[in-house]
Amino acid sequence: MNNCGISRWDDPAEINEKLKKLTSQEIWEVDDGYYTSVVINYFNEKCKASKDVYEESQTYIPGGVQHNLAFNKPFPLCMTKADGAYLYDKDGNKYIDFLQAGGPTILGINYPVVKEKIIELLNECGPVTGLLHEAELMIAREINKHMPNVEMFRMLGSGTEAVMASLRIARIATGKKHVIKIGGAYHGWSDQMVYGLKIPGSRALLESHGIPSSAYRYTDEVRPNDLHMLERMLKRNRLRGGTAAVILEPVGPESGTRPIALEYNKGVRELCDQYGALLIFDEVVTGFRVAMSGAQGYFNVVPDLTIFGKVVAGGYPAAGGVGGKKEYVLLMAAGLATGKHRAYVGGTLAANPLSCLAGYTAIQEIDRTNACEIAGRMGDRLCDGLKELIDRYGLPFVAYNQGSIVHLECTGAMSFDFSSMYFIKSALSLLKHKHMIYERKDSMERMGAAYMANGIVTLAGSRLYTSLADTPEVIDEALNRFEEVFRHVKKVNGKPCVHYI
Ligand SMILES: Cc1ncc(COP(=O)(O)O)c(C=O)c1O
Repeated sequence: MNNCGISRWDDPAEINEKLKKLTSQEIWEVDDGYYTSVVINYFNEKCKASKDVYEESQTYIPGGVQHNLAFNKPFPLCMTKADGAYLYDKDGNKYIDFLQAGGPTILGINYPVVKEKIIELLNECGPVTGLLHEAELMIAREINKHMPNVEMFRMLGSGTEAVMASLRIARIATGKKHVIKIGGAYHGWSDQMVYGLKIPGSRALLESHGIPSSAYRYTDEVRPNDLHMLERMLKRNRLRGGTAAVILEPVGPESGTRPIALEYNKGVRELCDQYGALLIFDEVVTGFRVAMSGAQGYFNVVPDLTIFGKVVAGGYPAAGGVGGKKEYVLLMAAGLATGKHRAYVGGTLAANPLSCLAGYTAIQEIDRTNACEIAGRMGDRLCDGLKELIDRYGLPFVAYNQGSIVHLECTGAMSFDFSSMYFIKSALSLLKHKHMIYERKDSMERMGAAYMANGIVTLAGSRLYTSLADTPEVIDEALNRFEEVFRHVKKVNGKPCVHYI
């Protein structure tokens, strides 16, 4: 396949076996001496300007940061410059950037060609007029060129909004009520989708505070990579208003943190057809990252609707949209369709010329530069190097990747599973283990701090996105820095182990 970023597909059973071992033993993390004398010292001595910003921020911003991903232990760093594979903080320290803005910038951060097009556009017409701009057509046509299943595309303001829109469409199209998501998956922060976040089987118990239970009354979750449970849920829903849609990330929940079998998506497609539900692929992370044709191209499965985010604005704001089969996408038609029975969507600044042109230019550049394949190759190199280090230092950590999405699980904080059709069973089990999960999460963030102090930015200490800007030299330098951290990792006696559930 042309410009494909995935060169191999690991057996999920093998990865899960390793994750099971990881969570069944005590936590391993950088020892206290290293953490205080090196990590904390680095932040206090070398990052004073960031610390000043953060200290004042706490007065004006809840939690001191505006973005969930920006909080890093022991305090967030304030970034002032971004260039390709690197970030620079306010004190001038340089970092290898494996966050890549949370995934959208597969071309490397602050990619010049996109930037230049945007500057031209700003000089011409500014970021937004509220009226039709040709860039809206250009991006829709460009997406269709690479993903023919996306016959039509509506640009919205974010992935969260796109998911909300798709669920509305699915309910109108099928006349059914329930939506099934895969446990642990993130599909944005709308009321119905915060259900079952992060940990499969967690339902409303972890993050749904402030959301009335009626909002997720028709949301169900099933165990990742489990077609039997999905079918049982589809059967059950037949008696309760039917299933309008199954929504999933095609590489597995949380960008593949929970690995799936290669044939899983085909199985879901068959079940959706059998039970009359739409299949929605959330390609917010995978679209134009794992392949030009997205994960749907890689798995050769045609979804009814596709959710886009991140990359469709090329790393610029207002990134999101829904595309798919004409008959469904037409259900949210604007303009001429006003007054008809339709899924209402909107957003004052959505689909502005800036985000459309940035997305269009970025997709063209990803194609021209073969970015998916190159970033994928660098992901393989990083993952292989991490595996070699893990073996050499005798650590229980687990590294695996889906091309340019690399996972480094040091504590297994995300690896629990409380999925069960029986609510009481899941809830009791989760409540019993909740503090241990948080302890592991805390330890994962401590590892993240150690990476940061060694000049590596990760997503929460456990996920790494590679980009076109990563050369073999950048990856090898990153591996040297990981080695420096791994040399100081010890088993922490007394830090609780959990039996994998
Ligand atoms: C798979 C997936 N779906 C949806 C979203 C939500 O997108 P946004 O942050 O643009 O609302 C995200 C964001 O990270 C995501 O990773």
